[in-house]
Amino acid sequence: MSSKNGQALAFALAAILLVVGVVCYAAFPQKTPEEPVRLMLKSTAGKILFDHKTHTDDAGYGIACDDCHHEEQDESQSCSGEDCHGPDSDPKRGDALHTNCKGCHEDSGAGPVECAACHIM
Ligand code: HEC
Ligand code: HEC
Ligand code: HEC
Repeated sequence: MSSKNGQALAFALAAILLVVGVVCYAAFPQKTPEEPVRLMLKSTAGKILFDHKTHTDDAGYGIACDDCHHEEQDESQSCSGEDCHGPDSDPKRGDALHTNCKGCHEDSGAGPVECAACHIM
């Protein structure tokens, strides 16, 4: 094979790989997750690392979104929106989350119930 042929072959291969790359990129776009994978919640008692993904994934604990996001939510899915668990609401955000989070951990006998196991830093 002459070096010219070799070069042509290399270019052809490069062109094919480029096309394959572009097609794959377009055909299988990276899915952006609908919920943040991990959330660092802040409180006066220290931060809480909440793993959204393992709580919701079928391969994880498989909890339905509306087990926690139990009302029609705006897009942000915030717990402290208007008419929700804001500072003047009953229950307040902290109490609502304690009931939800700790409540399930206690009922299911799985997941942290000790203060320091959630409030890790
Ligand atoms: C075990 C409880 C729980 C489950 C189940 C859950 N979430 Fe959440 N999610 C939360 C908490 C707590 C927050 C924090 C909200 C806040 O800070 O006000 C949150 C926040 C969010 C946010 C907003 C994050 C941000 O940055 O403001 C989105 C979007 C969201 N969740 C979507 C989902 C979707 C979609 C599902 C189901 C696949 C789901 N969640 C399941 C507890 C849960
Ligand atoms: C409907 C049930 C349910 C709710 C609601 C729930 N959890 Fe959990 N959580 C679990 C289960 C089940 C585990 C796994 C325990 C195990 O594997 O030993 C767990 C584990 C955890 C762990 C240990 C680390 C991990 O991710 O596995 C943390 C921290 C945690 N949960 C925080 C929270 C917080 C914060 C909330 C509220 C925003 C919450 N959980 C709401 C069921 C729940
Ligand atoms: C299952 C996890 C979990 C456990 C166990 C837990 N907490 Fe919390 N705590 C949270 C979450 C989630 C919040 C709300 C954070 C936010 O507002 O985003 C919170 C908020 C708070 C707050 C601030 C809001 C308020 O209600 O005043 C205090 C103080 C607090 N926790 C103390 C405690 C103490 C004391 C214990 C043990 C008796 C405890 N927590 C056990 C998850 C937990």
